[in-house]
Amino acid sequence: MVNSALRVVEGSPFYREEVELWSEESPEVSHSLHGLISYPESFNAELPGYFIRKYTKRGQVVLDPFSGSGATALEAAMQGRVAFASDISPLAQLITAVKLSPADITEVTLRLQRINFRRPINLDLYRARFAPFYDVDTFREICNLRAFLSEQSDRVSSFISAVAISLLHGHSAGYFSVYSFPQISLTSEEQEVVNLKRRQVADYRAIVPRILRKTASVLRDGWPSTVRALDKSHRTSVCDARNLDYVPTASVDLMVTAPIVPGAKDFTSELWLRYWFAHVSVPQIPDYSSTSDLAGWREFMNEMLLEAARVVRSGGRCVLDLHELRTRTGTILLEEEVVDLVEQHLARYWGVECVLINTPKFAKLKNCLKERDTFKVTNRLLVLRRK
Ligand SMILES: C[S@@+](CC[C@H](N)C(=O)[O-])C[C@H]1O[C@@H](n2cnc3c(N)ncnc32)[C@H](O)[C@@H]1O
Repeated sequence: MVNSALRVVEGSPFYREEVELWSEESPEVSHSLHGLISYPESFNAELPGYFIRKYTKRGQVVLDPFSGSGATALEAAMQGRVAFASDISPLAQLITAVKLSPADITEVTLRLQRINFRRPINLDLYRARFAPFYDVDTFREICNLRAFLSEQSDRVSSFISAVAISLLHGHSAGYFSVYSFPQISLTSEEQEVVNLKRRQVADYRAIVPRILRKTASVLRDGWPSTVRALDKSHRTSVCDARNLDYVPTASVDLMVTAPIVPGAKDFTSELWLRYWFAHVSVPQIPDYSSTSDLAGWREFMNEMLLEAARVVRSGGRCVLDLHELRTRTGTILLEEEVVDLVEQHLARYWGVECVLINTPKFAKLKNCLKERDTFKVTNRLLVLRRK
């Protein structure tokens, strides 16, 4: 799968290599649970999968401190590694934790049977924000599910929450909403415009069969007992990547992650329906202002790599998935910014090993949920080695 066209850059102590981490023949997703939810800017599971295979052995620890939808954590678990994963967003932590310890279909069915979906709800709230998305009976079921789940935080309820969140809005009959966008939550006003254009009104969508169908689909690849045996070793947390209190010093063999990049888009408002369902309040959501410019981002990366140096053992590696940044004045190669940062301020801790450049010839469709957006970006993967 890896096409090694080695290209040593003159004068550079490290090497650059063009690689192809996935191709047209690669399976769409390596485990069905990767398709649990469509998450903004998630990376292809083959990417962490490749580095986990290359740099670690079974039982070793893999960390992702910007875990997002938990692709690294799930790949690590499936390859028999211990996953440590965190994110500043509680929603990301919920999704990651669920992927590391999923419920099974019987547990989900029995739990759903305990819920009274017909309890009356606040119709003013429905009219104010939710009517463009849901039929009133569907919304009653969603509210009763949400209220029931908020009283429990165990593995089964967390799993049902994540599945329900993944089904809140989308463009097929499998979702709870009328035709909408799956990845981001439209505002009520935007949804009204879509409804007018498509001449649609929200129809009744029973939520229980939809949750069960999605559960069966994401669990279709099973959960091998060898993987289950590690369930209790994995760790997840809600925290800033610059302060990983849940990770012991020198405990990590490999860190593989896609950190935020300068001027990263803040999806807070565009995920409002998911946050509402998960009872996540806006102050709990990351503030991207500190990384809005290159200088602020370099400072952020400096602090993050210092903390990474504390947790990664000597000889361990840190792989950063970075992109080209297009600005009005040209293109900035972010890996070169980090190489410069490491050489100037972090050379005591990190050595630069290589840069791998993955330009997929094949624009792989993110089609777990049949979306049409493609992985068009080149991944620029900077590999650092802990001294
Ligand atoms: C590019 S996404 C990672 C996507 C992930 N690789 C995936 O496959 O889903 C970046 C993530 O960083 C998180 N984040 C932003 N600022 C953070 C910080 N200071 N510390 C930890 N996580 C942060 C965001 O919530 C987001 O989930």
